[in-house]
Amino acid sequence: MKKDLSNIKKAKYLLDRNHCVAIPTETVYGLAANAYSNQATSKIFKLKKRPKSNPLIVHYSSMQDLKKDCEINDNFQKLYNRFCPGPITFVLKLKRESKISKNVTNGKKTLAVRFPKNSITRTLLSCLKYPLAAPSANIYTQLSPVSKKDVKEEFGNKIKFILDGGNTKIGLESTIINLINKPQVLRLGGIEIKKVSKVLKKKLNYTKKKSINVPGQSKFHYSPGIPIRLNVKKFYQDEAFVLIQKRKKFDKNYFYLSKNKNLKEAGKNLYKTLRKIKKLKFQKIAVEKIPNIGIGQTINDRLKRASKR
Ligand code: TXA
Ligand code: MG
Repeated sequence: MKKDLSNIKKAKYLLDRNHCVAIPTETVYGLAANAYSNQATSKIFKLKKRPKSNPLIVHYSSMQDLKKDCEINDNFQKLYNRFCPGPITFVLKLKRESKISKNVTNGKKTLAVRFPKNSITRTLLSCLKYPLAAPSANIYTQLSPVSKKDVKEEFGNKIKFILDGGNTKIGLESTIINLINKPQVLRLGGIEIKKVSKVLKKKLNYTKKKSINVPGQSKFHYSPGIPIRLNVKKFYQDEAFVLIQKRKKFDKNYFYLSKNKNLKEAGKNLYKTLRKIKKLKFQKIAVEKIPNIGIGQTINDRLKRASKR
């Protein structure tokens, strides 16, 4: 997508005046506001209908800026060198002198930070005097948006501006790693845990038990608001059937995540497909078994949460 500087200027103009602006990232679109401003960040919670207890991820353009707000450590440095900018979020210790709004952290002493890869958003960040707090640009518990159109569907005219960056490349949220003391996976996401383990030279697992509270990882999340059955071999006529691989036969109930079992492609198409099924007014969804390897783990995690009622 071509960089349109007038749109970036417009986004800056609104953000500088404490408004929220939707921004593209390589994972999903975010609903952004000045992370140093109480007024701006409180608007995010209102628009999303998100509980105040659920802290936000802050987006930076440079390490220099991040160091104003967080204590960094060796593990962070290693992962930063390998994956940033990219779909990975780190939980770090907040510095006492940091200007991050209490709304962002829910008053806690930790901060989730990331360096998004989308070049439009990177240009925007580099023009600002503050980092951007940005959760996914969807109403709380709903599907994350992967295009400008999706954001529009979530918020209508309630937000002043959506910075268009085309379709997101990854289509799933960032992987979150807690780097305070022992590294720990808090959320599966766009970067495989195996790759993170390799860099840290330590095998990380995704377990339900966590040393810190991750409020946003509630069981019921990322939901199209329709019941979902997983690992399905045979679908019923009233179900949309989500498939990991294209079939020769046509069926109006079939929805493909990928042509040829490519898990990255499937990840990119997941939310888009679920949104489409919802629009077609299917009342039920069946999903065939998705291989639980690589990004397949993230896809299965999102489907499991979405299928909880
Ligand atoms: O890909 C992404 O990460 C997207 C794009 C827009 O950057 N953002 C995103 O934000 O997914 P959100 O708010 O939808 O999810 C952030 C998750 C929540 O589960 C939240 O509880 C957790 O990060 N989180 C934020 N700050 C935290 C902290 N200090 N400690 C632990 N978890 C934290
Ligand atoms: Mg979210």
